[in-house]
Amino acid sequence: METAPAPIVVAIDGPSGTGKSSTSKAVAVKLGLSYLDTGAQYRAITWWMLTNGIDVHDAAAVAAAAGKPAIVSGTDPAAPTITVDGVDASGPIRTQEVTDAVSAVSAVPRVRARITELQRSIAADATRGMVVEGRDIGTTVLPDADLKIFLTASPEARAARRNGELAGKDTTGLTATRAALLKRDQADSSRKTSPLAKADDAVEVDTTDLTLEQVIECVVTLIEEKQRSK
Ligand code: DC
Repeated sequence: METAPAPIVVAIDGPSGTGKSSTSKAVAVKLGLSYLDTGAQYRAITWWMLTNGIDVHDAAAVAAAAGKPAIVSGTDPAAPTITVDGVDASGPIRTQEVTDAVSAVSAVPRVRARITELQRSIAADATRGMVVEGRDIGTTVLPDADLKIFLTASPEARAARRNGELAGKDTTGLTATRAALLKRDQADSSRKTSPLAKADDAVEVDTTDLTLEQVIECVVTLIEEKQRSK
């Protein structure tokens, strides 16, 4: 008789444009795991700051308000949700205004402490196992994760993915996307508190020359190998 695999916690970190979200969701769906998008949580708290008139570049003001919004993440990978004070925030958190402000807000230690605690409690409740994607999951949030994966890709590949499929698009857009991505990476990698970083024990997967399907396949194989050895 086949026994169900033990619940597994998988941390998937890396910069934007590496296929992290698409891969994490697809892998979780395939393997029947829950899924947590931690970037969405930082975006949600950023959106709350913006809509409540907090100056996102005033770290003291952001820290003072960090405990106020109630952020709830739905962890079904087929239909992940996020609410702030009971309001669906899944659309507003993807606006350019939020993208431009999220690095500043997520660099504030009190914001990180609050969101990290939330992430740990969600992962602790994931009885069927979970894929948690972000920037500092393997290093800080879940240093004991069963498997840590760090996705990378060249800046060109990441900018091209972010811009959508290129046909017919002018290169000004691509250049601007690449510059914005690199700026956000630089901010996320250089902040003092839990920066974007590869954990020493993470498996690095360079997705530059891989299709999304190939990345998914690679991550599924890594997880299944880990499940067998658990
Ligand atoms: O993955 P994303 O682009 O939606 O993430 C948005 C921002 O949130 C990213 O620029 C940095 C921040 N973030 C973070 O600081 N730590 C995480 N674990 C996830 C995201």
